[in-house]
Order: sequence, then C-alpha cells, then structure tokens
Amino acid sequence: MFDSILLQLTAVLAVVLIAQQLYHRYLARKWACGDILKVDQDYFGIWQARKLFADRNDGVDLQEQRNRFNRYHTETFRETLIGRELYYTSNLENIKAIVNFQFNDFSIGYRYPAFKPLLGDGIFATEGHKWKVAKEVLRPQFVREQIRDLDHLEVHIKNMAAIINNTHGQVFDIQDLFLRLTLDASTDFLFGESVSSLTKSEYEMGKYTFESAFNKVQKYIFARSILQSLYWTYNPKDFRECLNVIHTFTDTFVQKALSLTPEELDAKSKKNYTFLYELVKITRHRKTVHDHLLNIMLAGRNTTSALISSLMLELARNPECYEKLKKDVFENFGDGSDLSCVTVESMKKCNYLRYCINEALRMYPSVPQNFRCAKTATTLPRGGGPDGQDKIFLKKGQAVFMSFYTLQRSELYYGKDANEFNPDRWATIKNPGAFMPFLSGPRICLGQQFAIAEASYTILRIAQMFPNIKSFETEYPPRISANATMKLRDGVMVSLS
Ligand code: HEM
Repeated sequence: MFDSILLQLTAVLAVVLIAQQLYHRYLARKWACGDILKVDQDYFGIWQARKLFADRNDGVDLQEQRNRFNRYHTETFRETLIGRELYYTSNLENIKAIVNFQFNDFSIGYRYPAFKPLLGDGIFATEGHKWKVAKEVLRPQFVREQIRDLDHLEVHIKNMAAIINNTHGQVFDIQDLFLRLTLDASTDFLFGESVSSLTKSEYEMGKYTFESAFNKVQKYIFARSILQSLYWTYNPKDFRECLNVIHTFTDTFVQKALSLTPEELDAKSKKNYTFLYELVKITRHRKTVHDHLLNIMLAGRNTTSALISSLMLELARNPECYEKLKKDVFENFGDGSDLSCVTVESMKKCNYLRYCINEALRMYPSVPQNFRCAKTATTLPRGGGPDGQDKIFLKKGQAVFMSFYTLQRSELYYGKDANEFNPDRWATIKNPGAFMPFLSGPRICLGQQFAIAEASYTILRIAQMFPNIKSFETEYPPRISANATMKLRDGVMVSLS
C-alpha cells in the first residue's frame, strides 16, 4: 500500500518536472534564446563545490573565477553546484539588465533571511515595500552637507598617524589600521561616540569587542547566504554570541538617544552631525533605528577600508604613482599645515587622487561579486548560442552571480593592461560603462560620495604626512577574502616614514 502511494507520488512528480522542462523549453524558443555554455561538469557538482571552497580558503576564488571566464572565452556560463544550477555572468549588458533595466525581474534571493539576525529589516537586507520605506528614511541623510564632516575624520586620522609614527619606518599591516580607522570613524558618525579602537588596547576593549564581533559576524552571514535555502542550518553558538555583543552595544546608544527630549536632540544636532540623533528625529521606533544603524555600519565600514587598503597596496608597489600622487596633493593642498583648503569639493579637483581612487575601485571592487535570483521566468540579453550573442532563458528562481571583479578587469573595456594598476588611464576615460563599484540602478550605493570623500581624505593625508612608502608584499596578485565585501587576506604590509 505504502509502496504504491510512493510510486504514484513519484510518477506525479516526474510528470510535473517534465511538463515544467517542456514549458521552459517552449518559452526559451518563443523568446529566441540560445543555449548557455555549461562548464566543469561533474556528478552533482560535488567536486566543483569542494574546489570552490578550497579556492575561497586560499583567497584565490575571484582570480579563479576570472580565469574560468577567460579559459572558456565566455562572459556567461552555467555550472551545477551541489545539485543546483547556477549562472555566472561578467557581461556588461546582462549585469545592467539585472541591476537596472530588468530590476523588477530579480530579487536578492536568500539575503534577507540569511542576514536578518544582524540587519533585521534594514535597507541592505530587504526588498519590496520594506526596502522602499528604509530608503525613504535614509536617502535624505546622504544628501546633507554635514554628513561629510572632514574635521571629525581628522581626529581619527591623527590617532592612526601616531601609530604609524611609532613604527619608526618598520613594516606593519596598514589594512589593520584602516579597519580600525573606518570603525572609529563610523561609530563616531553613526552613534555619536567612537569605539576608539585606534587608541585603546584590546585588553581595555574586552574579550569580544564590537570590532571582533562585527568582523566575525560578516563571515557567518555571508556563509549563510551561500547556503541559500539551507541558510538556517548554519547558526553556531559563536555567531549567536557575536550577535549578542553587537546588539547589546547598539541598543545602549539607541536607548540613550531615545531618552533625549526634542530640545536636547536639536542642541546636539547644532553641535555636529550624528546619524543616530537625526534618525531619532524621524522615527522613535527602537528596532527601526537599531536596524538602520547596523545596516549603514555594514554597508559603509569594510567597503571603505577595502578601497583604501587596496589603493595603498598598489601605491606601495608602484612608487612612481605615489610620487605623482604626492605632487598632485602638495600642489593642491600643501604639506598639511593648513587643512582649511581641503574640502569635499576641492578634493574632487585633485585629478590624480581621483584617478587613483577610481583605479583601486576598478581593480578591487569592495563588493567584488553580487548575486540575484529571477523572480519570474525571464531572459538576459547575452550568453546564448555558440558565440554567446543570443539571449538566455532564466526560469523562475534561477540564481545568477555577477562578477564585477571580472567585468572591471576585462581587456575588452580596459585594453591589454586591464590587469595592471594604471591610474593615468582615467585621464581619457570619460564615461566608463564597465565600471560599477557602487552598483547601478535602484539599489545603487547611497553612500558613494561619502565613501569617496572619506577615502580621498585618508589617502591625501597619508601622502602629506609620510613621503616615503615601501611595499613588503611577497605575493602578487594579492590573495583576497571575498565575503559580502572584500578584504586582502594577508593584509597590506608596508613601511611609511
Ligand atoms: C568604497 C566604498 C563603498 C562601496 C564600493 C560600496 C558599494 C555598494 C554596493 C555595490 C551596493 C549595492 C549592494 C546590493 O544591494 O547588492 C551598496 C549599497 C549601499 N551602500 Fe555602499 N559602498 C561603499 C560605501 C558606503 C558607505 C560609506 C555608505 C554609508 C555611509 C554606504 C551605504 C550604502 C547603502 C545604504 C546601500 C544600500 C542601498 C540600497 O539598497 O538602496 N556605502 N554599496
């Protein structure tokens, strides 16, 4: 009896699957789609999954992915990974379609449930109505002049410079300092009080610092998002403990802000800009304020640190570029004895500085890859047929990885030296199409100008204070840890004096 029910269910399932397949084939033909190249076939994609995890551990997964696109002479391919078929694309038209022109055909997949324990209902993790509501609250904050307060940043730069001076020209990891700098600057700007990781010892900050908990949690949430529908299986004790540290820390500030009267809030706003106090003027819903703070922290801290770290890595390897940068900085802003001339607007006019920032964002996009899921059966413009010029078909639920790392190192757009650091290329690039470090379309980064100002200021101050730089990197290209954002796996070993 049981056997016959099982048999009947299997038969029904098989019929449904076959009917679905036929329907997809019919749609693909109707919409004039070609076949998408299938690569690295192995049974169920187990071997490929093992290789992917090994490459991730070695910090070479981004390079390997770029190699695969090159090896197969394609910009779009598919593979099976643990039984699930995934599409990969570095094709500009496809990426533009996903993030912009066909925005409504795609969702952010399992990002919401995977990230929810950290980000709640904030802008980075949500979509649809919740995302729109979050965006309405946050957008006005990012057009305000006060948000780009360089005086506040200078306080943290000075703390960092003191540490660099103490190295007395010896080698150190500047990425570690940049992570602390951006944490101190972000907590200052977001909470109105810095965690001062550049001035406190680890002992003073306790076993689990906000910093260490925040760093660890990002690895957990990214791993959860990779697991897709199985995200819930990955919820270890350490993850929960880190979350507890982060939420308790954040809550202390939120409660403090909520206890202020409107007059007290106004008085604080007049003194200087604090994201938290401005938010509390708009909403007094504790969880909403809490979620916004952590979303902006996640969106802004590691991304900016990744940008300045990778730029320093390249400047140290290319002393002639550092010389040019110093010349540009000294001509525009002098030796740093008078900082009143350094403004967001004046930094934009410092051409070589701008070229360097662009070049680092091109070669090392802080968000090197991104992922979307088809919400409905749809197509993408390229990747089909023998030459990849036909459309491709995507069934509902189809996952697509977009490799910005590969796109922005494409010889098609950047020529034979696409894989080399050459800031001068930006002198002639007027309208860079294949350059989307901040994404494009409705989900484009809200903090783009803020990030560029912070990164430019940090780099120009270093150029003013430390004329000599030397690289101590032993390996090139550097190994990269690519989670939701990227980090140079072995740090950035330099000496500055
Ligand atoms: C170099 C630095 C940065 C880079 C490369 C960068 C890049 C990005 C990218 C690629 C996205 C889209 C992610 C997605 O939804 O798939 C994004 C979103 C976002 N970024 Fe940035 N970001 C940077 C710095 C910042 C900073 C400093 C802030 C705020 C202080 C910020 C705030 C945001 C916000 C709020 C979103 C969500 C926008 C939305 O979903 O509508 N970002 N960023």
